[in-house]
Amino acid sequence: MWGGRFAEGPAAVMREINASLPFDKRMWRQDLAGSRAHLAMLAAQGIVDAEAADRIAGGLATIAADYARDGVPDDLSLEDIHMLTESRLADAIGPDAGRLHTARSRNDQVATDFRLWVRDAIDEVDAALTALQAALLDRADEHAASVMPGFTHLQSAQPVTLGHHLMAYHEMLRRDRSRFADARRRLNECPLGSAALAGTGFPIDRDATATALGFDRPTANSLDAVSDRDFALDYLQAATQAALHLSRLAEEFVLWASQPFGFVNLSDQWSTGSSIMPQKRNPDAAELVRGHAGRITGCLVALTVTMKGLPLAYSKDMQDDKPPVFEAHDLLGLCLAAMTGMVESATFRTDRMRQVAEAGFSTATDLADWLVREAGVPFREAHHITGRAVRAAEEAGVALDSLPLQTLAAIDARIDARVYDVLSVDASVASRTSHGGTAPANVRAAVTRAREEMR
Ligand code: ARG
Repeated sequence: MWGGRFAEGPAAVMREINASLPFDKRMWRQDLAGSRAHLAMLAAQGIVDAEAADRIAGGLATIAADYARDGVPDDLSLEDIHMLTESRLADAIGPDAGRLHTARSRNDQVATDFRLWVRDAIDEVDAALTALQAALLDRADEHAASVMPGFTHLQSAQPVTLGHHLMAYHEMLRRDRSRFADARRRLNECPLGSAALAGTGFPIDRDATATALGFDRPTANSLDAVSDRDFALDYLQAATQAALHLSRLAEEFVLWASQPFGFVNLSDQWSTGSSIMPQKRNPDAAELVRGHAGRITGCLVALTVTMKGLPLAYSKDMQDDKPPVFEAHDLLGLCLAAMTGMVESATFRTDRMRQVAEAGFSTATDLADWLVREAGVPFREAHHITGRAVRAAEEAGVALDSLPLQTLAAIDARIDARVYDVLSVDASVASRTSHGGTAPANVRAAVTRAREEMR
């Protein structure tokens, strides 16, 4: 394609380091869509005559059918998907094939293809995030009133509801979807027609190609358009943030599935056995979701470092933009599907969660709050009195709500029988109706609201 001024062909290793076909063939659909839009515009503008345009369109249709049927071959001598397709077109229709590349360069071509690919990728991720949200909503609804220990510093702190805990992840995913939607909005400008770097002297119609490819408008600056990979970085940043959230949920599943916690039984479908310890059920899928977050972060770092020192406009370094995005997208897709499966099929051991919530004196704050509210005790003093009640319960080996009234009244005479209304874990969670609080009524309202929003 570019051999005119060269006397010798490239060395074998040169071909290998130069080639992007092994990975960019993944964009063949986007590449053909870009070519079709460009061709229609060239014909409409009278830059390519109608007869040649028809022949080219026919050739592109044949190539699309071939790729769909046989896959795209790895031919390193043809460098990338753009050159392969052009060479196939020449084989199919002869010299008219050469007219398609008028007023275009691989620089604006690849920038357009990759934007189209990332846009499709964002739509896939959004659907997968929505599916995981739906799974979380179902489980949160089911467990709106299931009591579990809430932790700070991984120490039992106050009882919460499992539904509330799961809805916390729903919120994270809501933000993830908004980050991807934001990336999509910013991405949706068409580089095609920027040509190599400076635009073109041909009377092209950039609005036409932008519209044909579903972009909101053409990009404004040709130098920026061929050298901008912000859209790929935006994707990777959003993917990294989402992977981080999945990793936190995965970590909770790993902890909860361990014997000392015993909060969850992961279904057989999402566990593996040990080849030497027959009793084991390992949460491998959760561990891999946690692990993949590291790899996805690595993809973001890779492209960030690739881009950071590049002068305008296109440099070949930018060919390395695609593998990290493809890898991150594949990993994120797997992680989302696996987490959705785990959430849908997990058996939450609510009996065990309740037992641990009750064991941790987790209603101590409720006792202190009761003293403030009902007996007018300043909070600091109430905190001190409560500390003595916790010690008494600890010494007696019982939960706070099992201490006899005499014991409590001996600690502070202002305590009366009404205190038992707040000492149980159920009373504790039910009382937390402040905006965003853990009360079962709040969880149910949050689930209803989220379902309405997602409709
Ligand atoms: N394979 C190249 C890439 O992925 C296409 C652009 C090549 N442009 C060039 N001037 N060599 O970035």
